[in-house]
Amino acid sequence: MTLIDELNQLEREAMAALDGVENLAALAEWKSAFLGKQGAFSRLSRGLGALPAAERPAAGARFNAARAALEQALEQAEARLKDAERQHAFEAEQVDVTLPGRAPSVGRLHPTTQILRTIYSALGEMGFQVWESPEVETDEFNFQLLNMPPDHPARDMWDTFYLETAPGEPTLLLRTHTSPGQIYAMRANAPNPVRAILPGKCYRYEQVTARHEMQFYQVEGIAIGERISFADLKGTLVAFAERLYGKAVRTRFRPSYFPFTEPSVEFDIECFLCSGEGCRVCKHSGWLEILGAGMIHPTVLRNGGYDPEQVSGFAFGMGPERVAMLRYGIDDIRWFFSGDERFLQQF
Ligand code: PHE
Repeated sequence: MTLIDELNQLEREAMAALDGVENLAALAEWKSAFLGKQGAFSRLSRGLGALPAAERPAAGARFNAARAALEQALEQAEARLKDAERQHAFEAEQVDVTLPGRAPSVGRLHPTTQILRTIYSALGEMGFQVWESPEVETDEFNFQLLNMPPDHPARDMWDTFYLETAPGEPTLLLRTHTSPGQIYAMRANAPNPVRAILPGKCYRYEQVTARHEMQFYQVEGIAIGERISFADLKGTLVAFAERLYGKAVRTRFRPSYFPFTEPSVEFDIECFLCSGEGCRVCKHSGWLEILGAGMIHPTVLRNGGYDPEQVSGFAFGMGPERVAMLRYGIDDIRWFFSGDERFLQQF
């Protein structure tokens, strides 16, 4: 077989192989097998040097023509394959415009925010204005000014998160209740009468259960003026409960103890879940405590700048999550901080 015969055969083989190439990766392989430096064409063209000088020019021209033909075929194949791949990608990425759309999920107010607003308006109608006070407090405001000197045993009622402070600096803590707000509201108003509520977040180092969270809201309330009595406290709280739960709501006061009120009470509402039968949420008592309250202790009035000989007042501190649990029938306080959309979307 002459060199030219071999060349013809190689050209046919290459063209046939090209027809079978189905993607760009295979095309690159084809190119290096036939036209690459180590490819079949280069190998064969080395035979040119061995030809008699007279045959060489014609053979060389034939080799050049064959190479040009293969390169042209390569280019065409490349264009064809690129088109096919692009087409394929278009099809794969095609958007089905007939599919139904996905509804955007609409934001809403957190149930705690909703209940706070309900509480503001119920008490607002009774003349209470909304105040705020800090979440990080000093030992002085959280305890001392509320009639709990250092080492007072009643401090045990509040398991406290303390902050790290430098020696000599005042002790800082996360407020365990909104009651320090009483002092701010009093000092801003004394000796004038005041009716205020102070909502905000509180923290306690507590075991988390269905009724207790280590972070929760409270709404503190105070009313101070001449001849404010325990009857005013009872009337206000019962009216509040009726506004939230309707006239038929069953409530009760129980004697209690707080160092900053005297006398002190706790205020319960009949358990929504068992209607008083007793269940897990109400600890089988049939009642759910929603707030502590009492007549403001003379020492606290004095710390707030009032003269307890001239004025008296009541205070209460309620748990709005508890209020919401009763209103919406929520059986676990942990839902409020869960961030669980299945819960939040129900409000
Ligand atoms: N601060 C009390 C608590 O967190 C509640 C309270 C407020 C009681 C005001 C009496 C008066 O338990």
